[in-house]
Formats: sequence, C-alpha cells, structure tokens
Amino acid sequence: MRVLGIETSCDETSAAVLEGGGDDVTLRSLVILSQDVHRIFGGVVPEIASRAHVTAIVPVVERALADAGDDTIDAVAVTNAPGLVGALLVGVSFAKALAFARDVPVIGVHHMEGHLFATALEHREAVPPFTALLVSGGHTLLLDVEAWGRYRLLGKTRDDAAGEAFDKVAKLLGLPYPGGPYVERLAASSDAGRFRFARPMLRRDQHPSDPEFYDVSFSGIKTAVLNAVRSASDVAEHGAIARAFQDALIDTLVEKTARAVAQYGRRRVVLGGGVACNATLADAMRRRLEPWGAAVFTPAPRLATDNAAMIARAGLFRLERGEHSALDLNAFATQPIPGLVAA
Ligand code: KG4
Ligand code: ZN
Repeated sequence: MRVLGIETSCDETSAAVLEGGGDDVTLRSLVILSQDVHRIFGGVVPEIASRAHVTAIVPVVERALADAGDDTIDAVAVTNAPGLVGALLVGVSFAKALAFARDVPVIGVHHMEGHLFATALEHREAVPPFTALLVSGGHTLLLDVEAWGRYRLLGKTRDDAAGEAFDKVAKLLGLPYPGGPYVERLAASSDAGRFRFARPMLRRDQHPSDPEFYDVSFSGIKTAVLNAVRSASDVAEHGAIARAFQDALIDTLVEKTARAVAQYGRRRVVLGGGVACNATLADAMRRRLEPWGAAVFTPAPRLATDNAAMIARAGLFRLERGEHSALDLNAFATQPIPGLVAA
C-alpha cells in the first residue's frame, strides 16, 4: 500500500509518500517546508500560518509525489487534530479533494499518534510494547503503549508543554524562536553555577495513586528562570541559567519516564516530538534506563519535529485496520488520541 501523508497542524507544510505494510515500511519521499516568517514575531501567528500553508500545499505535495518516483497512491492520510484549526483545515481540505479526485480513501490522523509512530520509521525495534514520552511544543504526554492503537495515558503537563517551556525560557534569555536548540547549545557549554531550580511535582515518596506521580508542570521553572535572569549580574550568567533550567526539566522527565518503565515493566522506551531532538535528554534517559535493560529509541531530528512521514505511518496503521474517514472529515483544535485505554 502506498500512502500519501499530509501535515499542516502548525508551522510546517509537509508531505510524504510511504510504502509497505505492517511494521515493514519504506519512506519513498519526505518534503518539509518550515515557515520561517514566525521568527519575526517570536512565535507562531495562526492567521499567517494558514495563509502560508495555502501557498505551499500544492508545490509541497507535488514535490513529494515526484520524489517518490511514481505518483500513484492508494490512500491519503492527513493530520486533522490537534493543532491550529485554520492551519489544519488547509491540509484536511486539500487531502479530501485529492482523495476524491483520485478515488482513494482519506484517513484523518491524530497528530500525537503520528509522533508515536515516527521513531519506528527508522528503528525496527521501536514497536510496542513500549513506554512513550512525547515532548513537543504543544504537548507533554507519558504513555504506556501496549500495542499500536492501545494507549494508556499515564501523565501529562498541568500547564506548559516541555517545548513551550524551552521556547519561553529562550525568550527570557534573549534567544531566537523556536528556542529549544539554542537553549540546549547554551546549556551544553555551561555549568549551573549558583543556580538550581526545584524539580516540579517530584517527590521521592510519591505513590502511583498520587495524581502527581506521572504529571509534570513547567510553569514554576519558568518563573524561577525569570527571577534568576533578573538577579543575574550580567549576561555571562545566562549559560548557567540555561543549564540549571535544562537540568531541572530533564531530571523531571527522566524520573517520570523511569517510574512508568518500572511500573509497566517495559524493555523499550520511545521518545517523540521536537524536544526529542535534545541530545542531553536522550543521553540522560539512556544513562538512567539502560542499566535496567531498557533500550531508549529517539527519532532523527527530521522525524522528531513535525513531518508528514509520521502521519502517513499512523494513517497506514489505521487503514490496515479497515478504518477510513468520510468526506465530511473536519479539523479540531483538541481531540483525545484514539485508542486510549483507562489508566
Ligand atoms: O514536535 P514539534 O516540531 O512541534 C509541535 O508539535 O509542537 O516540536 C517543536 C518544539 C519547539 O518547542 C522547539 O523549541 C522544541 O520542539 N525543540 C527542542 C529542541 N529542538 C526542538 N527543545 C529542546 N531541545 C532541542 N534540541
Ligand atoms: Zn508535533
């Protein structure tokens, strides 16, 4: 089966062609056009994002089909939730029109289910059962993945997403948007010096029945960073602040993930989302979990951040289960991941 994937949920216009079945798939093409314009505003401007998707969608899909060598497709998979509604609608409307014109099925894909499948595109062993940590600009989710399509939501952020925390801290430190990679680089060349920020919602005596056992919260660290920036004697201390912030965030994520690995006894851990590009996070996960015999898988940066290959992959899974969407498929800002089982 050849699936065309389309992703327009935020500020990337992306299309990809994937071929195969089950966990045996080959990526034939992947085109990602990132909208640089938002840098000027220090964050994504929804109205501008939608217009940029309208301009880019036709050439991006044409390029992906041309790169795939053969422009036949058996289905179209498109992100229809969650995300910026105006941005999503561009991809959804285009996908429906193309599917209708080519007389092939269309399937709406949940963006976060896409992130769950991204690592499996490159690592054949990154398949269920596994513990998943999805850390992006909009979400922070800790899941136990028993099988594809069976997801137990263990924890989430109570406020800012991990990527959002990186972006806001970058702003406080005067770094460009999106700030994650800049904060990581600055932190890598510094030690925390006199700064140490409290690890949010992390106490050693927490029990799994405690609602804070798996949840995270990053807005407090952000305030701590703001106070530290104000107290800093000069910008030379910004490196130490970046390092102290990243240490606190990573410690929290590693501890929460380790709790899930221990409780569910998984031997594999899969990271996903843009923050999974952070090599310091991946190293810390490996140091903590590999001694337990758990393998940690991270997607390549191109597949960690928003892309259509992961959407095609998740769509293929749903299509193989006999699912498809009707032509009234709509876009939604929020929607639970399909296949959630009770915790
Ligand atoms: O998954 P993604 O591309 O978009 C969403 O679905 O939100 O994630 C983007 C986020 C941004 O917040 C960005 O700052 C963050 O991923 N990010 C990083 C790194 N690279 C990207 N955060 C920390 N360290 C990085 N190296
Ligand atoms: Zn994403």
